[in-house]
Amino acid sequence: MSFILGIESSCDECAAAVYSGRDGLRSSAVHSQIDLHARYGGIVPELASRRHLETIAAVVEEALGQAHLKLSQVAAVAVTQGPGLIGSLLTGLTFAKSLALALSRPLIGIDHLQAHLYSAFLAPQPPPFPYLALVVSGGHTSLYLIESFERRTLLGKTLDDAAGEAFDKAAKLLQLGYPGGAKIEKLARQGKADAVSLPLPFPAKTNLNFSFSGLKTALAQHLQRRPPETLSPQEIADLALAYQEAIVRVLASKALAALKLCGAGHLVLCGGVAANRALRERMAAECAKVGCGLTVPPLEFCTDNAAMVAFLGYIHYLQNRSDPLTLAAYARSEENRR
Ligand code: KG4
Ligand code: ZN
Repeated sequence: MSFILGIESSCDECAAAVYSGRDGLRSSAVHSQIDLHARYGGIVPELASRRHLETIAAVVEEALGQAHLKLSQVAAVAVTQGPGLIGSLLTGLTFAKSLALALSRPLIGIDHLQAHLYSAFLAPQPPPFPYLALVVSGGHTSLYLIESFERRTLLGKTLDDAAGEAFDKAAKLLQLGYPGGAKIEKLARQGKADAVSLPLPFPAKTNLNFSFSGLKTALAQHLQRRPPETLSPQEIADLALAYQEAIVRVLASKALAALKLCGAGHLVLCGGVAANRALRERMAAECAKVGCGLTVPPLEFCTDNAAMVAFLGYIHYLQNRSDPLTLAAYARSEENRR
């Protein structure tokens, strides 16, 4: 039986998982480093790679243990190759190479963004091809038409900050701490609609690209006039709601425009920001209006995880795709390296 071990260490989550050709996902272990980075208000790359080094062996053992599997039963080792923090990536990649070499098993390099794009296959009902994928995370905000495991077309992407980054930066400006997305969402639930007006982050209505830096600047300017320490809890909640609403509206409207343009009848919402309930609810309502299907992977597979790496590794394994032990990590995604 083909058991694929997946390893993910591109940012601040150290994760391992086992995917089996017969039973699907067998295990998924994630060690989060939030406690380590929270006091600095963001990820400190050097600390992240050191923590990966300390935890990776235990996380892999945990995934194997959960799957009741011995290392010798692993058929291939799939690992995130990029994009991400180079030191963090190198820790996982070097660990995976050592395992592949010691076990004489194939090494399969996986692109982190692609792992998110196909993470919907970990949902109880896999999406039908072709589908439109909106990946919204701390590092990406992109729309892809996904026709198969081999064919993807980039339709639009952020020209500056990613949606998750926009949430994180706003949380920092509002002195809410790190990571910001979940904190903004929680506060926004207490906010009054339309109490504050922030500009909608629409760079151009004629294309499918995004831009969030103007929205962040508008919030920063608002807070220059009215610093957070002078605001009441209600005013902070109102700002959080206005900010979240602006992001959700633009994501929904561009996804709808993309659906119309590419003719796909199904939308996949993935990446860490898909954990945002307001966004999921808006997407569900918009998809229902136009009769389009929607898949959001289970939340644990929206944020960074190795299950999506092990799954895509399994697809590559079926296609006999593997990589040499000289495989290099890359910090930036292909779409941004062009
Ligand atoms: O996919 P992910 O775990 O890591 C990356 O590949 O970037 O996404 C992390 C991002 C962070 O920016 C975080 O603030 C955001 O997802 N996020 C949220 C929520 N939960 C996580 N953003 C908005 N609302 C949430 N509930
Ligand atoms: Zn990610």
